[in-house]
Amino acid sequence: MLVAQISDTHILVPESDHPAAELRADCLRRTVVDINRQNPDAVIFTGDTVQHGQPEEYARLRDLLAPLEKPLYLVPGNRDDKKELSAAFSDQAYMRATGEFLQYTVEDYDIRLVGIDSTLEAERKGRFCEERQAWLDATLSEQPDRATLLFIHHPPFDVGDHYVGGYRQPDEARAPQVTGLLCGHVHWPVEREWAGTEARIMPSIAVDVRKGIDEAEARERPIYLLHQLSGESGLISQARRVGD
Ligand SMILES: [Fe+2]
Repeated sequence: MLVAQISDTHILVPESDHPAAELRADCLRRTVVDINRQNPDAVIFTGDTVQHGQPEEYARLRDLLAPLEKPLYLVPGNRDDKKELSAAFSDQAYMRATGEFLQYTVEDYDIRLVGIDSTLEAERKGRFCEERQAWLDATLSEQPDRATLLFIHHPPFDVGDHYVGGYRQPDEARAPQVTGLLCGHVHWPVEREWAGTEARIMPSIAVDVRKGIDEAEARERPIYLLHQLSGESGLISQARRVGD
């Protein structure tokens, strides 16, 4: 299975006086074109889709994502307003099925996808409470032998001063089917082993707020991740520079 990942686009309305409003829209527009060329099975969006959580920003986000040819699965970031995000994407069955927490499973592929909600209103660092941990435990125990990909906005481990509170370090043996964990939030690329699986944080698609990239070389080209997944070989990730 091939999965493309988008994160931290921080879209603004065209009328915004923010100097990067058009640049950010253009970054996402070009990324969508490139993703379609790579023809993944699915696209995962790990949050901070817009800057202020406003309906007008979500309307623009929808327009920018409309050309995507493959199914899109979103989880919220701390910049998102969950109500507005859900309303903007209410035509998506998985979105309609969520409750207080915007989290769900996708059962349509060889690899099971599990989107996790790590947000708490007005809390930049996010939260992963006992209720959500219980949901994740129960969800993983439903299909213990099926390769599973988790995706979440906040990484569940310390990266500088960005972290999620309230996590328990999972027992590796309890969920050995987890093939990978995809995150956003931090805006710079990180790869590490975590709790018996491979974790990836991708750089922000919005090039004005991304970090940890050689900008002289990247020349304002957005960078997203393509993940090849299988139950046998696990997670193989490639950083794809738009326009290469
Ligand atoms: Fe962000």
